[in-house]
Amino acid sequence: MLSFAVNETLPKTFKGAVVLVLEDKLKLGKGAAALPKAVRDAIETVLSNSRYQGGEGEVISFPVAHDAIQHVVAIGAPFKKENDIGVYTNWGVKAGAELDKSGVKNAAILFETVKDNLITNFLEGVHLGSFRTDDFKTDLKAHQKGVLKKVTAIHKKAADYKAEVKGLGALMDGVSLGRELVNLPPNIANPDYMVKVAKDVAKLPGMKVEVFGEKQLEKMGLNLLLSVGKASTQESRLIVMKYTGDKKSKDYKCLVGKGVMFDTGGYNLKPTAGMGMMKCDMAGSAAVMGAMQALANRGSKVNVIGVIGTVMNMIDADGNIPSVIHTAHNGQTVEVMNTDAEGRLVLADAMSYTIAKHKPTEVIDIATLTGAIMMALGGQYAGLFTPNEDMAKALTETGKRTGERLWRMPLDKDYAAKPTLADLNNDGARFGGASTAAVFLQNFAGKTPWAHIDIAGVAMSEKIPGAMPVKGASGFGVRLFVDYLEKGAK
Ligand code: BES
Ligand code: ZN
Ligand code: ZN
Repeated sequence: MLSFAVNETLPKTFKGAVVLVLEDKLKLGKGAAALPKAVRDAIETVLSNSRYQGGEGEVISFPVAHDAIQHVVAIGAPFKKENDIGVYTNWGVKAGAELDKSGVKNAAILFETVKDNLITNFLEGVHLGSFRTDDFKTDLKAHQKGVLKKVTAIHKKAADYKAEVKGLGALMDGVSLGRELVNLPPNIANPDYMVKVAKDVAKLPGMKVEVFGEKQLEKMGLNLLLSVGKASTQESRLIVMKYTGDKKSKDYKCLVGKGVMFDTGGYNLKPTAGMGMMKCDMAGSAAVMGAMQALANRGSKVNVIGVIGTVMNMIDADGNIPSVIHTAHNGQTVEVMNTDAEGRLVLADAMSYTIAKHKPTEVIDIATLTGAIMMALGGQYAGLFTPNEDMAKALTETGKRTGERLWRMPLDKDYAAKPTLADLNNDGARFGGASTAAVFLQNFAGKTPWAHIDIAGVAMSEKIPGAMPVKGASGFGVRLFVDYLEKGAK
């Protein structure tokens, strides 16, 4: 686990790597003034002899021969007003990846000036960039596994940042949990595993959890969700976590995550190429789990219900076949015209049940729902669908702050798939498919203010090479939710 601190000066006892945040190309600024002269000279030599130019986001990383300062990472960070704050996160990611490679335990980041959210965003980036899931590499020696333990931001206005940096560790642990759940293979991260993790999270102060198995779900009428998991030997579950951080209020907001632990497509089988990527089809539920853990660990003064529908979409004689009809929790009938459009079935029942039972003031669902959103937005933005202007604005603004960018997409009834016999059809179109999925979900939100976030393109970096700076699972949604909910409570 990586911890954070912020300090006015480089501690006398510091031993580890320093990161230079170079605002002005190759010039060593005030931040570097704190370094011993021998180290400064060594840095100047490297900077002037190398091909490094200090361009935006350009990194150089090298060891130095000094007792205390063992390694230097420099990153070009020229400030531009027009930059989204997320840029600072991306710079941090690059620095974090270098620190991880260097094998240091400790790092100090020497900031020149403080602008906007630079310090916190950059630190978040360092955490994102140094994270990895390497338990399965048997040839890695202990010192080669994630070793970075502490990162200290150095700036003369440290006092202004103390409170924010204090909660950062808990926030980023939530992000790590979300990322790890996605990275883990589906023979480990299956529905049972999600239940186990939820029960662990439920031990935190203010948190409670209810877990419903197949027998109960049948009684409760969550037939759409059950139909998806029916071909799996793993028992499907609905996990409902309730966090009460504001005892004075009875209002709860609600997060609902798609937890398809693996999506083969079912009888509408997915093609071989890239099927392995479908272990990420539970990234929505991982984001909900990570956010719930982070809120509790931060002692956030918010009330939130986190709901996860966790199933495996497999193939078996019992599974859905195209054209079967089921009755949803809200009483509507649904033709399953495509067994690969399973996410909307899981979310529909999870949302409708939660709204009926808990009457949340607001619902946000998050899901790797459609390939169509990847076509539309690539790996740069997640799709945001909501009829609610306030939620659209607040969520979009939050995404700009955390670097998890959202782009609002259309939500018009004429995107809906036309049913033949039943009330609704889960099928998707080749064109506009992300909106088709979203209008399907809208039927299950009723009158509750609702937003849907499609993260199929942003959940994992390998899907669209080069789009995201992080490796593997991105943890998209955790910081977004924590920030959105906490700001909304103020
Ligand atoms: N899990 C997929 C969506 C997905 C695609 C996630 C790529 C991550 C990366 C979803 O269940 C799915 O298969 N959607 C279909 C819908 C279609 C059959 C209507 C799709 O997008 O092709
Ligand atoms: Zn699918
Ligand atoms: Zn899916």
